[in-house]
Amino acid sequence: MIILSVSGSLRTVSSNTSLLEAARRLAPAGMAITPYVDLAQLPHFNPDLEDAMPPPAAAWRARVEAADGILISCPEYARGIPGSFKNALDWLVGSTTFPGKPVALFNASPRASAAQDALRLVLTTMSAQLVDAAALTLPLLARGMDAAAIVSDPDLARQITATLNAFAAAIRAQPASSPDASSGV
Ligand SMILES: Cc1cc2nc3c(=O)[nH]c(=O)nc-3n(C[C@H](O)[C@H](O)[C@H](O)COP(=O)(O)O)c2cc1C
Repeated sequence: MIILSVSGSLRTVSSNTSLLEAARRLAPAGMAITPYVDLAQLPHFNPDLEDAMPPPAAAWRARVEAADGILISCPEYARGIPGSFKNALDWLVGSTTFPGKPVALFNASPRASAAQDALRLVLTTMSAQLVDAAALTLPLLARGMDAAAIVSDPDLARQITATLNAFAAAIRAQPASSPDASSGV
């Protein structure tokens, strides 16, 4: 089972990226979490470009298509979704393979509720399959914890592991809509 992780933060030292890296290290057997790291390379979305997709946008769509599920952790900017991350989502609106894609929403800051609500609205509008059992909010804001520190914290590690297991179970439980809808692992 391949899970594509996507951080909504472009910062070099990011609590959301650290959370996703901790998740990668804690992934249960049978789950491989592969980070998408080219968010900053995506051009501004323009529907005129969709007939001849810019290579970074085509590559982004291909990574999403190949994944059995998407794991997102995104900060809140001005009570909303950071523009760079919303731009990435806009490139998926015209994708024929994104609808029904299982999505887990991680969140490194309990106060970032407006961005989470906005993400839910946007992703639901895009017909993602939001997996409620795989939503996880952890209080990492301003704690300066890198992935190793998160993994070493028993309570944080337990919550991440349990949530990843719930995500895997939800993906395995979904009916296969096409022969290659899931890797079947
Ligand atoms: C431009 C900007 C706007 C922000 N607006 C909000 C906000 O509206 N609500 C909030 O809870 N935090 C806000 N923050 C704080 C970020 O969400 C916080 O720094 C978060 O940890 C960033 O995630 P990261 O560590 O993954 O980069 C803002 C930060 C920046 C730089």
